Amino acid sequence: MDLMETLKNRRSVRKYTDQKITDEALEQILSAGMLTPSGKGLKPWQAVVIRDPETLSALVSCRQGGAKMLQTATCAIAVFSDKDKTDTYIEDSSLFMGYMHLMASSLGIGSVWLQIRLRPSDQEGVSSEDFVRDLLSVPENMMPEAILVMGYPESTPEPNPAPEFPSSLVHYEKW
Ligand SMILES: Cc1cc2nc3c(=O)[nH]c(=O)nc-3n(C[C@H](O)[C@H](O)[C@H](O)COP(=O)(O)O)c2cc1C
Repeated sequence: MDLMETLKNRRSVRKYTDQKITDEALEQILSAGMLTPSGKGLKPWQAVVIRDPETLSALVSCRQGGAKMLQTATCAIAVFSDKDKTDTYIEDSSLFMGYMHLMASSLGIGSVWLQIRLRPSDQEGVSSEDFVRDLLSVPENMMPEAILVMGYPESTPEPNPAPEFPSSLVHYEKW
């Protein structure tokens, strides 16, 4: 698909069928992530791929009130970033997430960004970050950013309205 078409059609998808994502599709999604630019090219991100239904089910409690999209997800990619490697680790891992989200969409796979950084989990007094770190045995220096929750869409949402120009959000030459 042409890039603009992919951008126009991309939506967050939170309910999935039970069709499994193939190894090939998963590799394409991860490869897209690995093609992201990063500050000084340091690539501080690492990912944990989760397909085990038991772990996906346990992850539901990673957010207060429950991350319901994980109830039907067939795969999730948890994204972490090495804070000791670079001061742009948050920006870098956000782009990593964004590229994978777009690649998934271009393959007809639904996905949604599940925020982990700065969120509370469903366990009293436990942050989402600590919950995920503990469940997935993540080392201390790796900062949990977000989880890309994925599966084949139960239904396909309409594309977002196309941006209009001139836009009040864009300034030319000065604010
Ligand atoms: C930084 C960021 C954090 C997000 N966190 C969540 C989240 O925790 N849970 C969720 O359901 N969606 C989350 N989203 C998805 C947004 O809600 C979604 O992108 C937005 O509502 C626009 O809808 P669309 O993606 O379908 O265009 C997040 C998106 C971004 C970029």
